[in-house]
Amino acid sequence: MPESEQVKSEIKRRPVRSFVRREGRATAAQKQAMQTLWPVYGFEPAACGELDFQALFGRDAPLILEIGYGDGEALVDTAALEPGVNFIGAEVYTPGIGHCLIRIEQQVLSNIRLCQADAIELLNKNIPDAALSEIRLFFPDPWPKKKHHKRRIVNDSFTQLISRKLKIGGRIHFATDWAPYAEWAMDVFEACPTLENMAGARQYTPRPDSRTLTKFERRGQRLGQASQDLIYRTIP
Ligand SMILES: C[S@@+](CC[C@H](N)C(=O)[O-])C[C@H]1O[C@@H](n2cnc3c(N)ncnc32)[C@H](O)[C@@H]1O
Repeated sequence: MPESEQVKSEIKRRPVRSFVRREGRATAAQKQAMQTLWPVYGFEPAACGELDFQALFGRDAPLILEIGYGDGEALVDTAALEPGVNFIGAEVYTPGIGHCLIRIEQQVLSNIRLCQADAIELLNKNIPDAALSEIRLFFPDPWPKKKHHKRRIVNDSFTQLISRKLKIGGRIHFATDWAPYAEWAMDVFEACPTLENMAGARQYTPRPDSRTLTKFERRGQRLGQASQDLIYRTIP
């Protein structure tokens, strides 16, 4: 096969991801946090295989995964409020991870571990089945253009994957301020036979006060974009 054809077929084989790798510019404090705090709170999924939570946290406790935690505002707030719960954060954006590490250190938290990874790969390769009490997916990239809808993280294979990784009765909490994505997610979640809408079929959940108002959501509010929450639990 000519080299150019090989490159094309390689590109075709790559999985469609819900993010585009962008390094962004980390501040000096974020870079410093990556050097000094990452060894304490970070883990490398590729080196771990299936995760041993007792080894990772030094204890067994209910486990919550937040996907795409951004600067870690919601993740760190709830970890501080729920010291009896173990939290894993999966994010790909380095400056956000640095920011989150600084927040963890400021709050002196021991119940959070972070990885720099595609959450889909983390779920597939590192999280054992029925390990999670909850998955949080707040303001995932909405990919508004039709040609990019295939990049939306919420799709049928996502609902099948999370149904396996959550315990029976475990929850997926999704929030977005992009109305077409809220409708899309509602359709996808409602079509999954192992997920049950906790607010009743095809109902949004009123915004829980416990969900931190992040910089990202505040920006949407300034633009007049209302947030919608969807919460489902797994059923047999
Ligand atoms: C729009 S931001 C929202 C950040 C945060 N949840 C908030 O509410 O402020 C979406 C984030 O998801 C991250 N992301 C997208 N796809 C991801 C994936 N497959 N795994 C981990 N993080 C992902 C992006 O890097 C980005 O930081």
